[in-house]
Amino acid sequence: MSKALKRLHTDHINFMKLMKLMKAEVENITTNGELYVSLILDIVDYIQHYPNTIHHPMENVIFEYYLQKYDSDCQPIIQLLEEHNSLSYIPVKIEECMQKIKSGEIQSKDALIEKLEQFISDQIEHINKEEKEVFPLLENSFTKNDWKYIDSKLTASEDPLFGDKMKQGYETLYKRISDSASN
Ligand SMILES: [Fe+2]
Ligand SMILES: [Fe+2]
Repeated sequence: MSKALKRLHTDHINFMKLMKLMKAEVENITTNGELYVSLILDIVDYIQHYPNTIHHPMENVIFEYYLQKYDSDCQPIIQLLEEHNSLSYIPVKIEECMQKIKSGEIQSKDALIEKLEQFISDQIEHINKEEKEVFPLLENSFTKNDWKYIDSKLTASEDPLFGDKMKQGYETLYKRISDSASN
């Protein structure tokens, strides 16, 4: 597997751990009425700072290269590119919802639950398409020189939650993810 795909694959494993925690948090809200505001805000913050600004743009470089060089009408890739765009809006909506709940503007958590559930299922479906369908297609199509070119275009930015240097403030979130992953 190329360096670029290895990194994206590792990200996916980490994102799935985050989805597991998000599912548990939705369950906490629906069954116990417990809402950990700071935890959800940390999750949203992370999604906006890494998956949306580093991971998806890295994939965009690779996907667009494939469209340009191999098949400009490759529908699975075109769809994934569109999803990078649509997936980026949901965390913003979740954050808006959280702020309204925090300020007391809205009491019901239904809208929040709906958005969290939508994000989790869209994100899992998206990752599965990449892992099962598109990454194998790239591996079978790209030459060594293609990967060399791709690697030269990729950012060195580290994952601020799962990478070597954790961003300050993510300690609680990381601990909750580790606890949730071992359950
Ligand atoms: Fe993606
Ligand atoms: Fe991805």
